[in-house]
Amino acid sequence: MGSNNCKNCKNGNSKYNISNYKKDPIIGNLVDWEELECLIKKNDIKLLEIIGKGHRGVVFKGIFKNKIVAIKVPRINSKNTVYHEGSILKETNLFNIGPKVYEFSNNYLIMEYVEGINLKNYLSQKYMDKKEYLTIIENTLKQCLRLDFHKIDHGEIQGGKHIIINNKDKSKIKVYIIDFDKSKRGKITHNFTSAISLFFTKSHISRRTFDILNISEDERNQIINITKLYKKYVIKNVY
Ligand SMILES: Nc1ncnc2c1ncn2[C@@H]1O[C@H](COP(=O)(O)OP(=O)(O)OP(=O)(O)O)[C@@H](O)[C@H]1O
Ligand SMILES: [Mg+2]
Repeated sequence: MGSNNCKNCKNGNSKYNISNYKKDPIIGNLVDWEELECLIKKNDIKLLEIIGKGHRGVVFKGIFKNKIVAIKVPRINSKNTVYHEGSILKETNLFNIGPKVYEFSNNYLIMEYVEGINLKNYLSQKYMDKKEYLTIIENTLKQCLRLDFHKIDHGEIQGGKHIIINNKDKSKIKVYIIDFDKSKRGKITHNFTSAISLFFTKSHISRRTFDILNISEDERNQIINITKLYKKYVIKNVY
């Protein structure tokens, strides 16, 4: 699958040396290295480290146009969805959701590097700041409502691993929704209802939420009932 467009790329520059990454025991066989080498040379990217691997892609941290970025490339033998993800992110960026997308093609996605930890890891901390956690839930729910109103369904909100929290600056908690590769444009969306399920039904994260926020069974039922109305009257538009 390697590209033939590399003839014009600068060669012999150690900045573009990717041999260490190729040897990685986990991602060594998952990436089209020829394609990646071509990408970093053409776009003058310096790779810094491997930051993630999922079912669809491998994600690197790098420097591109003097910015720290995340570079997602498709996994060999997996469905290639990077172009789709880039085009959806371009749309969601218009209403301030998702990492900012810088460049994308059929073979790569260069986007803002999101610093932080995912919701699951955030909740594994011993000491939890109740007010901060409420801000995180509120922020996540608002972003999910925005996605619903723009008719983009993320598709994987319920798992929680795509919600990244940056609480370094306590006065400016940031929440990012990442990984839009399974997202769809469509009339019926499940972002808000999935987020409610994640925080307030019977998952591990919900149980932790009840403990931290001291939510009663009654309050939980009220939340669920309001969400049912939202689903019926706002999402499905049944009158
Ligand atoms: N913009 C980003 N900034 C920082 N880290 C990121 C970014 N995008 C992805 N990551 C990291 O890389 C990991 C894998 O990325 P992502 O979830 O997009 O891959 P995937 O192959 O689509 O995974 P999945 O199997 O969950 O669908 C993420 O869990 C996260 O840790
Ligand atoms: Mg994914």
